[in-house]
Amino acid sequence: MPWAKLHSHARYNLATSGVAHWKLRDLPIRMEDLEISGPSYYGYEPLQKALAAHCGVPAERIVAATGTSMANYLALAATLKPGDEVLIEHPTYELIVAAARHIGAGIRRFPRTHESGFALDPAAVEREITARTRLVVITNLHNPSSALADEVTVRAVGEIARRAGARVMVDEVYLDAAFECAPRSAAHLGDHFIVTSSLTKVYGLSGLRCGWIIAEPGLATAMWRMNDLFGSIPAHTAELLSVIAFGELERIRRHVRARLDTNRATLHRFLDSRADLDAPRLPFGTIVFPKLMRGSVDQLCELLRAKYDTTAVPGKYFEMPDHFRIGIGGDPEPLEEGLRRLGAALDDMMEAQS
Ligand SMILES: Cc1ncc(COP(=O)(O)O)c(C=O)c1O
Repeated sequence: MPWAKLHSHARYNLATSGVAHWKLRDLPIRMEDLEISGPSYYGYEPLQKALAAHCGVPAERIVAATGTSMANYLALAATLKPGDEVLIEHPTYELIVAAARHIGAGIRRFPRTHESGFALDPAAVEREITARTRLVVITNLHNPSSALADEVTVRAVGEIARRAGARVMVDEVYLDAAFECAPRSAAHLGDHFIVTSSLTKVYGLSGLRCGWIIAEPGLATAMWRMNDLFGSIPAHTAELLSVIAFGELERIRRHVRARLDTNRATLHRFLDSRADLDAPRLPFGTIVFPKLMRGSVDQLCELLRAKYDTTAVPGKYFEMPDHFRIGIGGDPEPLEEGLRRLGAALDDMMEAQS
């Protein structure tokens, strides 16, 4: 995260995982619709209703949270005591592991492999789960690869967890980027599932910090209480803006979809032109995680930044140093130029090696 905040900025930024930020002026906002404080206790009712409609679950199962970041922390903290075991996919979003470590959980990992296209494999979960495991954690779509786990697979993982007396947390912050390929949310698969998400990645509304957790009502109440530790009163202006944004979500979704389709075609053309990169061509998602077939990813990323003013995320931040992550959620022209520069940096490396 310090790298993302301090060092990922460049003229051509391929390091961002979400779509480009939506602007305040692009939403139908009138000053008189905004207020600083309001009736916001365990949820602001209009926002709880909007979240319930968006997620297709009753409002009593939804806990509003400050982004998926806080949603993940609350979900982990409400289900794990120090010393409990949590089984987390590898590779994953670094801060999920960091949050579990902060809580004092014992961390086990199960692999999602490059060779399988980072598929979620229930057999790998079964091999690593133990009688002490209280929670299994996955991302769907997968960060960093965008691999999609279908409902049958997620259910199978749920069944393995349930038999071991554990729950499953599914971080679905990228799921809507699968559009019509997206399975139902895991929130519909039983009370042993906990789902986290936000308007951050797919809708470009990161600054609203509109995140949520879906959990069975008893657990949801425990999370609301725990959230009192971090901020008993939410930022009400952000809640009001979030309600307005939900009213615009279909329009935003259409715009995002068109942009991602354009950018994905650009990305696939680029990948097709590079024998030194290995990545599946997925029809969805905002990120891709190629393997560099020869040479050092750290060197590539340094060269890319120093000579070409372009950034991508080194795979070491996902505990996979042979890979790097490219985001395709930006504007089409800078993405095209960023990929051209990435190609030039790869060519430079190839030349230096031969
Ligand atoms: C898998 C995953 N979960 C959560 C987050 C954080 O989301 P938010 O900005 O909504 O807090 C990220 C951000 O990169 C992420 O990749």
